Amino acid sequence: MEVIICPTAAEAASTGASILARLLREKPDATLGLATGNTPLALYAELIRRHQSGAIDFAHCHAFNLDEYFGIGPDHPASYHRFMSENLFSHINIAPEHCRIPDGLAKDVPTACRDYEQAIVASGGIDLQVLGIGGDGHIGFNEPGSSLQSRTRIKTLTARTRRDNAGDFGAEDNVPMHVITMGVGTIMEARSLLLFAFGAHKAAVVASAVEGPITSMVPASILQMHPCAKVILDEAAASQLTRAEYYRWVYANKPAWQADA
Ligand code: GLP
Repeated sequence: MEVIICPTAAEAASTGASILARLLREKPDATLGLATGNTPLALYAELIRRHQSGAIDFAHCHAFNLDEYFGIGPDHPASYHRFMSENLFSHINIAPEHCRIPDGLAKDVPTACRDYEQAIVASGGIDLQVLGIGGDGHIGFNEPGSSLQSRTRIKTLTARTRRDNAGDFGAEDNVPMHVITMGVGTIMEARSLLLFAFGAHKAAVVASAVEGPITSMVPASILQMHPCAKVILDEAAASQLTRAEYYRWVYANKPAWQADA
């Protein structure tokens, strides 16, 4: 696991965008795994900016989102379909038919989840998965206790996550109880992972995920087992890491040929 500590979230987003841009230069038909939440907004803004300046072409890539609330449709203002359209897809030249997000209105959930997994495989597997981290350590919507080998499936949100995400729905009671999410095992099959976290409110959970034991109680801790995972933080989110100075030193002394890799 590589830990990259950036002075600001904007610089973290730029670092992430460069990694993604390099992937798309080398593999224009790459498959991206995308995330929602406040955290990836700066990354998406930077990707849009680079696309508009002609530096990134999304014409041939495919995208799979991590998750969606269950029981709401794509037009619901708090749906992740709407989020992705407003914050990324409608501003770049990705083909709409290449953008997949779990169906929150699926009638046959197990079949829809199996189909989602098969579509990922059919697209060649995810080359790079973008992740945020929930305050309780969740990735996607894999709440604490999720099997570390889980696949795309329905999950029940914790009270904490419903509280954390209440803003999008006006009130906690309006937050759906269920979601469809890629599993931890699904996420771990991506060839590379980029987890972003910003702000002091993420510092404790980042420290648990990066330096604590690997446990389903902190699903993001499984990234320690991934052969190509980067954790990109701002100073505040890195503030409880005991080995922060070492991570900075490693990054500062990275061989030039590894830049953006
Ligand atoms: C939601 C999403 C996660 C995201 C998390 C953190 O629960 N399902 O993918 O990482 O929120 O959100 P934020 O980035 O807003 O802190």
